[in-house]
Amino acid sequence: MNIKTLLASLTLEEKAGQLVQLPPYFFKKEALQEVAGPVQRLKLREQDIFLAGSVLGIGNPQEMKDVQSAYLAKSRHKIPLVFMADIIHGYKTIFPIPLALAGSFSTQNFYRMARASAAEATLSGIHVTFSPMADLVKDPRWGRVMEAYGEDPYLAYHYAYAMTQGYQGKSIKNQDSLAACIKHFAAYGAALAGRDYAQASLSLHDFYQQYDAGYRGAVDAGVRMAMTSFNVFEGVPATIHQTLLRKILRKRMGFKGVTISDYDSIIETVVHRVSVDDQDAVRQALLATVDIEMASGAYIKHIPTLVKHGLIDIELIDQAVLRVLKLKKDLGLFANPFKGANIEKEKSFPLSASQLTIAKSLADESIVLLKNHRHLLPLVNQKIALLGNLSNSGALLGPWSWHGNRDLTPSLNAVLKPFIQHSVEDVQKWSDPFKQQIKAADVLVVMTGEEEKESGEARSKTHPVLADQTIQFIKQLKPLGKPIVLIVTAGRPLVLSAIVDDVDAILYSYFLGSQAAYTITDTLLGKNNPSAKLTMTFPRRVGQIPIMYNHLNTGRPFLGQNFTYTSHYIDESNLPLFAFGDGLSYTTFQLSHFKDVSSLEDIQFSLEVKNTGTRAGYAIIPVYLDQPFAPVALPNRQLVGMEKRWLQPQESQIFIINIDRQFLTYIDRDYQRQNLKGKLSFVTVDGATTLSIQKEI
Ligand code: BGC
Repeated sequence: MNIKTLLASLTLEEKAGQLVQLPPYFFKKEALQEVAGPVQRLKLREQDIFLAGSVLGIGNPQEMKDVQSAYLAKSRHKIPLVFMADIIHGYKTIFPIPLALAGSFSTQNFYRMARASAAEATLSGIHVTFSPMADLVKDPRWGRVMEAYGEDPYLAYHYAYAMTQGYQGKSIKNQDSLAACIKHFAAYGAALAGRDYAQASLSLHDFYQQYDAGYRGAVDAGVRMAMTSFNVFEGVPATIHQTLLRKILRKRMGFKGVTISDYDSIIETVVHRVSVDDQDAVRQALLATVDIEMASGAYIKHIPTLVKHGLIDIELIDQAVLRVLKLKKDLGLFANPFKGANIEKEKSFPLSASQLTIAKSLADESIVLLKNHRHLLPLVNQKIALLGNLSNSGALLGPWSWHGNRDLTPSLNAVLKPFIQHSVEDVQKWSDPFKQQIKAADVLVVMTGEEEKESGEARSKTHPVLADQTIQFIKQLKPLGKPIVLIVTAGRPLVLSAIVDDVDAILYSYFLGSQAAYTITDTLLGKNNPSAKLTMTFPRRVGQIPIMYNHLNTGRPFLGQNFTYTSHYIDESNLPLFAFGDGLSYTTFQLSHFKDVSSLEDIQFSLEVKNTGTRAGYAIIPVYLDQPFAPVALPNRQLVGMEKRWLQPQESQIFIINIDRQFLTYIDRDYQRQNLKGKLSFVTVDGATTLSIQKEI
């Protein structure tokens, strides 16, 4: 297929159609009357809809085949539709939410998740996933932190890179490869006060120094698409921001692929009061080189008029259409418009034993042990009472798992049953007979946190804490004198200060996906040794938000409560409740011999790590650049390398940690990236141990 020849044969309307994405129900005639919102407002006609070039969200392979067949039957040039969907942390087999998996400090795990997701989702005839989501996040009030990797740019870069490689495989032409789409460009995670869709509150310097890392990672890995964000960035809605998309994304970062708006975000620039009307919004988006418009259909409606009136150069449209046709060609859709869709295999492969094994091992590496007073965990032969409002819930998949089946996801109660004496999930049942019952137990396990619908898109909170009812419940348990294990299932860091001293152990599970209950059970009982670390700081109080490890120094650091004019609160400590990198294990590690073993090309440090406990487990060793000096203020600490290995009890290993030079840089006053020079300090930290090295660069 020669796409330039094909382009030349298209009418202006057909070209505009290639640049529009609609949901699948638009292609079913009976649904047309029901279409609400912008589509109704724009008065799209049936022939407009059958010009669209791509589809958003498809239910199953049969639906894909039906929509593609109906479309091709009506299409003059038979250019296949490309099907796109949000496969964020699994298709039917659901893996941990990205914020949880981020805690495994393993790029390989993100590669595995993306590969396993692509192998399932492609069977439905999906060709592009709107993932990775690489927005840097520092504010747990924002509901979408669950989709992100946390507050660290090094992790964001490498995780987005690994996910892109995992989805796309060796070639997007392969049957089991998805094209990846990096989102949301740009700085959507910096939403002011954590309120979704609000303006990004950051400086351009912050953007280049920290926030762009995830997007760069995906671009460097060859990501094929990029999605614009809903927010205003540097005064202009990102979707129509010419500097952002042309100069930063395409030129500075070197992105060569297709751009797509977020859902209706082009016409929403009218509501921002930056576009006069829909037509003006379309014009501005085209000038910014947004190739595909998601959802509203305004491109079909307005592109022909804009070109005919000379308000948009046809060359701009041609370039966008060529990029879309190239994607379709590279995906192999001209050769096989039904690529991937496999009705039989889609019934048997998702949720198969091999897929669930991956889900289980990723969940095992994602659960975080935040507290373990007197080594209460793991439980050995104790009589357990399982309590808490989520103990009987199969809703452990988390947001953005629309193909996941809650009915097939076991609750903790179902899996832990053989070990449980009494189970009570409802606080209302608190009564004397119940108290008598739990008196017979040796340990109380309380599973609580957030419902799935409390995090994700448009789920911002002013008060990300445990519910009052839950806090009261735990306070009522305390006088019984039994040790309490708290399991928190949530899509964000919750402020746990109200109960942290009332419980003996805390397992933070986030949403671990299809195998959540098995991982939690195995961790409680010691078959899984927890190893994950936090990638978002947990505040003590909501008023500390945003709080993160990699903040800038101040000229007036905190010196103690007697020094008034220092950077501190008068009603709370500066410290978080749990810091970035916190996370315990059932074993302990001893670090020693931190040495510089760099070659001419690579900066490398070696370290001896010994498992000093009685259980095998993963040791995660981070290396940070510490207190760098530069012509601009830089974060006081920055992760620059890491290594993770499995150690048997009493085993010692030499870890070799590669330092990523990209993170030994700073953004100068003209926003250019420069290498740091001179003597740099590096530290590695595990619990109370900190080892450091100075190195001349
Ligand atoms: C979200 C995107 C998502 C899109 C399509 C939007 O509301 O912001 O992340 O990819 O919907 O589902």
